[in-house]
Amino acid sequence: MNDKMKILSICGSPRKGNSEAIINRLKENFGHKGIENEVILLREKNIQRCNGCVEYCNKYLECCHKDDMLEIIQKMLKANGYVFVSPNYFAMPPGLFKDFIDKCSVLYTSYCFTKKPDLSKKRAIIITVGTDKEFIDACRDYISKWFLETLRIEVVAKKSFLSRSELKGNYNDIFKNKLNSNIDKELEKMANKLCDSLKTVGGVS
Ligand SMILES: Cc1cc2nc3c(=O)[nH]c(=O)nc-3n(C[C@H](O)[C@H](O)[C@H](O)COP(=O)(O)O)c2cc1C
Repeated sequence: MNDKMKILSICGSPRKGNSEAIINRLKENFGHKGIENEVILLREKNIQRCNGCVEYCNKYLECCHKDDMLEIIQKMLKANGYVFVSPNYFAMPPGLFKDFIDKCSVLYTSYCFTKKPDLSKKRAIIITVGTDKEFIDACRDYISKWFLETLRIEVVAKKSFLSRSELKGNYNDIFKNKLNSNIDKELEKMANKLCDSLKTVGGVS
């Protein structure tokens, strides 16, 4: 049975800035292709920090916090593909995004105990932004290897782009800063890769 392709974009920045500009540009791109793309800005969500009470989530296979993660996880389960965009803070995602990652551990725990949900047919692209190439690559690879690989979500493309920290009111600075030649082309290629990979996995049109 063919389903319509659904892509969920998750923005890990605590501010309106470069990451969000990239997510919005990709949304336009998916729109031109007629693909449904919902955007979640983590900065607008109530995500309580994981308090490590694994006795609860191991037993009930859900989090004890009834916060916005409930809705986010439902959307993740319904989507076929994901876009994750995050700033780099000290070669890692910001605390906001790390809180989201930690709260996704219910997906991991549940799979370990019940083999559900099986996320192995989901596909993702990752983009990180920051001022230093080595750090942004490390952040990108952290998200890819230690978050998405753990959840068995295949990463089909990942890239980092150079930003300027201060936006001075220009929320689209990443497209104007001249530090990334062909950023639009690169984003388009990533969007295409994600869509093509989902068609190959099957079940989506
Ligand atoms: C607390 C903090 C730590 C940061 N650490 C780094 C860093 O280690 N290396 C780097 O290249 N940029 C670092 N940055 C710069 C951000 O990655 C950069 O401003 C990025 O564009 C922010 O993305 P955004 O505009 O999407 O919020 C840091 C910024 C903040 C606020």
